[in-house]
Amino acid sequence: MARTTEELLAAREKNVPQGPFNIHPLFARDAKGALITTVDGREFIDFATGIGTVNVGHCPESVVEAVSDQSTRFLHTCFHVVMYEPYIELAEKLNALAPGSFAKKTLFLSTGAEAVENGVKIARYFTGRAGVITFEQAFHGRTLLAMSLTSKVKPYKLGFGPLSPEVYRMPYPYCYRCSFGLTHPGCGLACAEHLKDFFISHQAAEQIAAVIIEPVTGEGGFIVPPEGYLPRLREICTEHGIVLIVDEVQSGMGRTGRLFASEVLGIEPDILLTAKSLAAGLPLAGVTGRAEIMDAPHVGGLGGTFGGNPLACRAALAVLDLIEKEDLLRKSRAMGQRIGAALDEWKDRYEIIGDVRGLGAMRAFELVRDRVTKEPAADETKQIVSTCRDRGLITLSCGNYGNVMRLLAPLVITDQQLDKGLAILEGAVSEANRRLESSQAR
Ligand SMILES: Cc1ncc(COP(=O)(O)O)c(C=O)c1O
Repeated sequence: MARTTEELLAAREKNVPQGPFNIHPLFARDAKGALITTVDGREFIDFATGIGTVNVGHCPESVVEAVSDQSTRFLHTCFHVVMYEPYIELAEKLNALAPGSFAKKTLFLSTGAEAVENGVKIARYFTGRAGVITFEQAFHGRTLLAMSLTSKVKPYKLGFGPLSPEVYRMPYPYCYRCSFGLTHPGCGLACAEHLKDFFISHQAAEQIAAVIIEPVTGEGGFIVPPEGYLPRLREICTEHGIVLIVDEVQSGMGRTGRLFASEVLGIEPDILLTAKSLAAGLPLAGVTGRAEIMDAPHVGGLGGTFGGNPLACRAALAVLDLIEKEDLLRKSRAMGQRIGAALDEWKDRYEIIGDVRGLGAMRAFELVRDRVTKEPAADETKQIVSTCRDRGLITLSCGNYGNVMRLLAPLVITDQQLDKGLAILEGAVSEANRRLESSQAR
């Protein structure tokens, strides 16, 4: 018998540890396109897509058919034991699609964190160096190295040390809160040039294996680097023989209006990481990189039992077909314009919105209690998430200060669903703004 939400919540509390957080006290029954129906029959518009895992929407027919067909053939043989074509075909496709006209190779794993771990392992092996440079506002996952590369302390790192050694952190190019107190473009990209100081004051360039960066931060608040930043970083890495690893786990698979944000921002990574929306919700991650770098580790040095599971590879092949057939990259850009225009208007209307930003359909706005001090409005952000839920919209916040609302609607959402979702969100923002203004007037 199906249980009610209350019964399931009680059973969850009794049987599952508190560590795995739950943003919404909801249990899904079915999901299709941009809609999720819960066990008690409530329907929600989904602006979260499982933290960006179903850019193509819930259960697209062609993906479900590919997975069903594969499930009648074999579920798993383990790529290391008996190989199968979908793994090879998907590697061929990603090698052709990832930016850069050089020869590439792809390794498959199951999760984003594993992609991060393997990207760094490969870069270390290739360069014979240990150091890895990461950024403030970075999120790269929860395994030991990925967690060490991640920025935000609570909840991700607190109490889980010792952290992995040879991890160095730089300021992310976060123009709204510039670490150097400068303004782009007059800043001369001081945040990128800072790497040169870093090589003097922290660690020599010849000890650094890799720089790992999200081209648009995910959990860190959908921050988009200013024009020229990533190409400059690319130049510095090339100059010093440092492997540039670009983590597109959240920004990839059409989210920013091209298949990869790297393409929008004009860089060719040495190693590009994918996961999340790659297989429409099935666990799959890719490490795609320059052939000579990817081939550095010895035979047997890389792998994992479930990496590149055949169901997930078939799903990913169907996802790539769908993105092309349904012209989802154009849809992503159009959606981005529509959302961006709405957010710009809200910023004019509501003082609580300090910044709006994003690329393609990867959009966000940052909430502040005061536009001058930029004091983060974290409680107000939480309130917006719960008000939206009460009115049938699933949303997510993010940011190191927990004060950014990110929009991750599926690229297949209808205009009507998008407008309805935006109207709910605007209502919640407007109420938070009013409450804040009246508390400040007292
Ligand atoms: C940019 C980025 N990298 C890595 C990860 C980790 O992926 P996973 O949760 O699949 O391990 C995430 C997850 O949110 C992410 O956003």
